[in-house]
Amino acid sequence: MNDLSFEQSLRPQRLSQYIGQDKVKNNLAVFIEAAKMRQETLDHVLLYGPPGLGKTTLAVVIANEMGVNVRTTSGPAIERPGDLAAILTSLEPGEVLFIDEIHRLPKAIEEVLYPAMEDYCLDIVIGKGPEARSVRLELPPFTLVGATTRAGAVSAPLRDRFGVLCRLEYYNEEHLTDIVVRTAEILETDIDWNGAIEIARRSRGTPRIANRLLRRVRDFAQVRADGIITLTLADEALELLQVDRLGLDHIDHKLLKGIIDRFRGGPVGIDTIAASIGEEASTIEDVYEPYLLQIGFLQRTPRGRIATPHVYNHFNMEMPSE
Ligand code: ADE
Repeated sequence: MNDLSFEQSLRPQRLSQYIGQDKVKNNLAVFIEAAKMRQETLDHVLLYGPPGLGKTTLAVVIANEMGVNVRTTSGPAIERPGDLAAILTSLEPGEVLFIDEIHRLPKAIEEVLYPAMEDYCLDIVIGKGPEARSVRLELPPFTLVGATTRAGAVSAPLRDRFGVLCRLEYYNEEHLTDIVVRTAEILETDIDWNGAIEIARRSRGTPRIANRLLRRVRDFAQVRADGIITLTLADEALELLQVDRLGLDHIDHKLLKGIIDRFRGGPVGIDTIAASIGEEASTIEDVYEPYLLQIGFLQRTPRGRIATPHVYNHFNMEMPSE
């Protein structure tokens, strides 16, 4: 099995197996139970938050808890209204339709989604010009689960049609440690508590990163040691993987040092810094920046990004005087 199919099998299938995100989990448990008691379809759910926190996993968990199948697609994959119509008309009653990156749905397709979400129907236009007429097609009831890393980029009319809004947050160290231990058990890897804590600590609050680092550290344990992941081994392996004490990797370093070295710590616009370090502005904004903002390393101001004193401290650098 490769890493990707492993990733699938590592994922929790039920709410009771899902570690962390307690607020989201407790609320969802109530909404799911209520819908089941009323024998209704669960209301549409929008999951938002930084990448790697378990939005896709939650969509599958929701479907499992409701006892239905999940159909998965993504905003950029749906190019024409007909693509969405084909999916919607082929759903079984009650099924979950998961649309990842829902903020990237083209506007024309969003408009097909509105009546589908509100009334479970499709308005199809037949013909052109004065002859054109609209036909309503009934759909089976379904639950749309939308996911986005950018809640602000979801249009207001679309956002308003979700009955349940869930914001996923970065995981704390305890929950991430539990996830590392759970994954190690599934992978049949020996890990001691301090080894698990060290991997958790360097995973930027993100289970996807924790599980990836665990697999790489496990490789080192297997080849360079006796297979057991201890604190010392985790520490050495993570050093070799260029993941620092706070979990920042070489791209975080390039970004932060770029702001310091080339722009005197900022403020600098996102497009300028992106071009100067050769990364996509959208990748910086969606993947790297959210965690750096969360730990107070970056500040976002109207004039651009600023590296805070924490960054200078972390790199043992002097802050420039005014
Ligand atoms: N693996 C990845 N994310 C997880 C989570 N939130 N709970 C349990 N296992 C996980």
